[in-house]
Amino acid sequence: MPGIPDRQIDGQLPLSAPEAIARRRATPHFDASRPVPDEWLKRVLHLATLAPSGFNLQPWRFLVVRDARNRRKLQASAFQQPKIAEAPVVVIVLGYHHPHRTHLEAIVNQMSTLGVITPEAGAEMRARASRTMERVSDLALWTTRSTMLAAATLMIAAESLGLASAPMEGFQPDKVKEAFGIPNDHTVCCLIALGFATGEKPFPGRFGLAEVCYEEHFGQPWTLGEA
Ligand SMILES: Cc1cc2nc3c(=O)[nH]c(=O)nc-3n(C[C@H](O)[C@H](O)[C@H](O)COP(=O)(O)O)c2cc1C
Repeated sequence: MPGIPDRQIDGQLPLSAPEAIARRRATPHFDASRPVPDEWLKRVLHLATLAPSGFNLQPWRFLVVRDARNRRKLQASAFQQPKIAEAPVVVIVLGYHHPHRTHLEAIVNQMSTLGVITPEAGAEMRARASRTMERVSDLALWTTRSTMLAAATLMIAAESLGLASAPMEGFQPDKVKEAFGIPNDHTVCCLIALGFATGEKPFPGRFGLAEVCYEEHFGQPWTLGEA
């Protein structure tokens, strides 16, 4: 991105994707005295918007909460989780239900301007996306799929640039919506705290590939071994 240094905050180069993925932890405590520079916040959010989405409809919306009073208000809707008050930034990650009704035209136009779609393919995409989306029975589930990919991308991007993160599902969606004026055609998918960790959190471990992978058919054992 123009004007934004391609560096971590402490002057190091960004971590590679494998390094960032391996180092990321759900950070338990943040340094409340260290703000996140605006340029880094914008960069992390921009990288999150590069996530994939169904029909490129980009249903994610990010409500960025930095004001300390608003973070306390959010904390009251999230079982008083301490990291919401400590972290200088908390993102309320929202999944919008109707981008096919309000944004499809703009998306097709942008793809057309970028030269990645012909006028005929654009018309076909408009019709197909609209038809398919109007048949979706669970729009909250639909939007959560793509929005959580953006949330994961956001956390990896943050880690790569030197920012710690913490995803949260421990909140009361109705309370969050009421407190922040979020309309009902948006699902509160998760909260993500961003900032600088206090202390190191040890890696809590993961199952091996043999536990989580199957080959060719559900239940058929994994034979390639571990990475
Ligand atoms: C969707 C989701 C919701 C989570 N919600 C919370 C939460 O509300 N509070 C919390 O302390 N941790 C929460 N976590 C963090 C997990 O406990 C953590 O990711 C897990 O223990 C593995 O630790 P690691 O991410 O540091 O490897 C959440 C993680 C995910 C992916």
